[in-house]
Amino acid sequence: MSALFNRRSKKVRKDENIVLPQHIGIIMDGNGRWAKLRGLPRSAGHTYGAQNFRTIARYCSNIGIKYLTVYAFSTENWKRPEDEVNALMKLFKQYLNEALTDFKDDDIVVRFIGDTTAFSSELQELIRRTEEESKHRTGMVLNIAMNYGSRDELVMATKSIAQRVKSGELDIDSIDEDVISNSLYTAGQPDPDLVIRPSGEYRISNFLLWQSAYTEFVIMQKLWPDFSTDDLDEAIRLFSNRNRRFGGV
Ligand code: FPP
Repeated sequence: MSALFNRRSKKVRKDENIVLPQHIGIIMDGNGRWAKLRGLPRSAGHTYGAQNFRTIARYCSNIGIKYLTVYAFSTENWKRPEDEVNALMKLFKQYLNEALTDFKDDDIVVRFIGDTTAFSSELQELIRRTEEESKHRTGMVLNIAMNYGSRDELVMATKSIAQRVKSGELDIDSIDEDVISNSLYTAGQPDPDLVIRPSGEYRISNFLLWQSAYTEFVIMQKLWPDFSTDDLDEAIRLFSNRNRRFGGV
């Protein structure tokens, strides 16, 4: 199958009737299995996974995706062995340092969703600088979910709404779906149209639970380090052929 994206014209090919999702979410799963299959430590899988993250993020930006949310570290991932968590923290630092310059050329706005106060002060400073230096860009918004859990996000949102009611700023009868959406880390952004999970697992794993009420899911059998731009094209083609009804007929 031909590539969806025409590199010469920098546009999605016109000969296919493709409906591009505005917002894509990706659960970057399968790094550990990828490494194990090669007799490598799990951390090596994360290194290849991180490289692939940049390739796929850049490709999404090039084909005109407006929002991309990647799941890099969940609130539950702290349970992993210490050396694996340390290797991931090292990778985050390295890639954030590079993202400061790297994503500049792609005009990508980098944002972080999740409770980043749990990270080292060095990593928190990098997160702050990355957001600050990219916030004036006009291209794709890249949300990197780090220490993110959707239930944790809903607890955070509930507390902030309760605080506003307590202080008299918000009337309890004014609480509606928009108030909740606007209290989440993704406030002001459209809900994901498509969530892709490589590695063949049929689970949502605490990712964007509220936001994915009407999201189309595509599960792919590739492990994340092997997930290619052709696989992304395939996921978009599958999405494009879905009949989205949002509860209607
Ligand atoms: C899930 O695979 C992957 C992770 C928990 C880490 C994902 C992180 C990266 C790809 C690095 C991204 C870097 C930046 C800067 C965003 P797994 O380890 O659960 O794999 P398994 O299911 O095969 O064990």
